[in-house]
Amino acid sequence: MKKLAVFASGAGSNAQKIIEKFRNHPDMRVSLVVCNKPGAGVINIALMAGLQVLMIERERFMKGDAYIPELAAAGIDAIILAGFLWKVPDNLVDAYRGRILNIHPALLPAHGGKGMYGMHVHASVIASGDTRSGITIHLVDERYDHGDTIFQAEITVRPGETAESLAARIHELEHRHFPVVIEKFFTEPGGPPVERPAESLSS
Ligand code: GAR
Repeated sequence: MKKLAVFASGAGSNAQKIIEKFRNHPDMRVSLVVCNKPGAGVINIALMAGLQVLMIERERFMKGDAYIPELAAAGIDAIILAGFLWKVPDNLVDAYRGRILNIHPALLPAHGGKGMYGMHVHASVIASGDTRSGITIHLVDERYDHGDTIFQAEITVRPGETAESLAARIHELEHRHFPVVIEKFFTEPGGPPVERPAESLSS
């Protein structure tokens, strides 16, 4: 049984979908939620699901042991970043190389990098006049919003679209794809190919 740790610091809607997907899965389970923000919605979601929550603090995560001893003690095999905004430090990338996935709410490399998270991303897409946005699921390496792309799905930015309406549609896309991509990546040899599913172009 592969054990996943979900790192999240926001509302936790993606974390919830991932927890649900693997609740009765034969091969994988979410066994830990890691959070850096007291009061974040994801904490309640984790507790309601009966999961252990590890609260982390910046100095130890960024400049210390990155909580690797706790992750090892919990037997964590892979890490899923689902709305986690801190840069993952090099020692943690190294300890879990090729086994840390992040989701970004735009088509990287566009609208990525430091400060590009949540609504800032959607506001940037609208301001730039892009006609497409989407989601990117990628492996995490030493650079922020960098690393091999595992999966992208696109949607058309509609006339009159606002950052809020785009955020809602992107969230829907994330919920639909992220749990399935995680499952494929960790259970199928070689993981899923980079895809841009055509059906999502019109959604
Ligand atoms: C998601 O849209 C995720 O893509 C984004 O934060 C949101 C978390 O929502 N992540 C980033 O912007 C990372 N740069 P949630 O808490 O409802 O899952």
